[in-house]
Amino acid sequence: MRICCIGAGYVGGPTMAMIAAKCPHVRVDVVDLNSERIAAWNSKDLPVYEPGLDDIVSQARGKNLFFSTEVRQAIHESDIVFVSVNTPTKTYGIGADRAADLRHVEAVARTIAETADRPKIIVEKSTIPVRTAEVIQTILKNNGMGLNHQVLSNPEFLAEGTAIRDLSSPDRILIGGEANDEGHRAVETLAGVYATWVPRERIITTNLWSSELSKLVANAFLAQRISSINSISALCEATGADVDEVARAIGTDSRIGSKFLKASVGFGGSCFQKDVLNLTYLCGHFGLPEVSAYWEQVIQMNEWQKRRFTSQVLKALFNTVCGKRIGIWGFAFKKDTNDTRESPAIGVCRQLLAERAKLAIYDPKVSAAQIRADLGLPPNDTSVEICTSAEAAADQSHAVLVLTEWDEFREVDFTAVHARMMKPAWLFDGRNVLDHELLRQTGFRVRAIGKDPSPSTSHSSWTA
Ligand code: UDX
Ligand code: ADP
Repeated sequence: MRICCIGAGYVGGPTMAMIAAKCPHVRVDVVDLNSERIAAWNSKDLPVYEPGLDDIVSQARGKNLFFSTEVRQAIHESDIVFVSVNTPTKTYGIGADRAADLRHVEAVARTIAETADRPKIIVEKSTIPVRTAEVIQTILKNNGMGLNHQVLSNPEFLAEGTAIRDLSSPDRILIGGEANDEGHRAVETLAGVYATWVPRERIITTNLWSSELSKLVANAFLAQRISSINSISALCEATGADVDEVARAIGTDSRIGSKFLKASVGFGGSCFQKDVLNLTYLCGHFGLPEVSAYWEQVIQMNEWQKRRFTSQVLKALFNTVCGKRIGIWGFAFKKDTNDTRESPAIGVCRQLLAERAKLAIYDPKVSAAQIRADLGLPPNDTSVEICTSAEAAADQSHAVLVLTEWDEFREVDFTAVHARMMKPAWLFDGRNVLDHELLRQTGFRVRAIGKDPSPSTSHSSWTA
């Protein structure tokens, strides 16, 4: 059997590397129009930073895993074609800022239609709106050679930073197909690939539309949990409750569960916002404005949490950060990734720059060029310094803002850092990862998400 994957991005690259590593009898070709990206996949410096990925790639590359720009040839020779191209939020026309832009999916469908000379199993991996399979089927029917291709939906649930673990031991594999004999056969063929290493009971098969919708709904539910706990974080700060204690208390209820209850400066990443927006757009499209408004709040709360965080910084620094150096620790949307897409750090930094702060930014994995591009800085900009250590970013700063939960921030010598900061030295923990009591003893003024801003003073109770 031969498999190819169109799109060598965050999803396509690691997923195919895992299939190749687990199925040595299957040849896997990963193809992309972007020749730089392909060159990187063929080099020592992979384009995606993911713990454990290097090992998996080097295990299979050159044996049964190949990266190239030969899109048509790969389609021609494969039995299963994964489509893993980007589906960003549309920035123009109808559905702008909400709907998914399906340009790349359509382009790929057209290429497959023109190239395939025998029936293929085409697998949607990209996150797409419900009924996209229909679009692909229509293009194939109208442009192809009259062949009966099968379109399957097989959404990817891997999270960045833990992609290799998620791929090698997934909670479930979801495969949706058409409800007829050919559809069932295609689903079984794909299920057979995964069954090489995933227990059968974890392979869920559904109809096409359930599978497509489940991906959006899974991400919307996860994002909703974060917005819910973030909304409570504001109430905790007002009442003297501690959001981590509340999360632990409710998380032990097995019906609620303990995961995804970590309050933060806001969620980021390429999926959550995009998928929730996509869901709200779909609801509007299908005449369900109330459902759309309900999910819209998940995004609104996330935006508010970022603004709320910046406002607290501003307020603490005597309502002005103009000309003040602020240390930013972490720029990636979460730890263990170099990905900055929708990172809350972007919004917070832009707000501080609008207030004319001088930023000193350090992230262990994100490049200076990426940070500058995300902040839209002109080449001659002097408002941002990119630092090579957490200590350097804190040096002579009025405040340090923890925006990504990198483990190394816990190992910093805070006494030394405090000594080299402007006074009063402020620390804003946007991820609740530091020992706040110890920091206060060291001399820092500390603000953290969902924590009592002045723990020494007791709050008045409701009944007083
Ligand atoms: C997510 C989904 O988890 C994954 O299943 C899907 O395939 C793609 O989208 P990812 O975006 O890689 O994965 O990261 P995730 O770990 O879900 O975190 C998303 C954002 O939420 C990050 O900014 C993270 O810091 C934040 N987060 C997560 C919180 O603020 N609190 C939490 O409790 C969990
Ligand atoms: P994801 O996070 O969904 O994997 P990425 O943006 O990381 O998204 O990767 C998507 C990849 O798809 C990019 O490398 C892009 O060059 C590639 N791509 C987009 N359109 C096409 C196309 N028509 N043919 C081949 N590759 C494509």
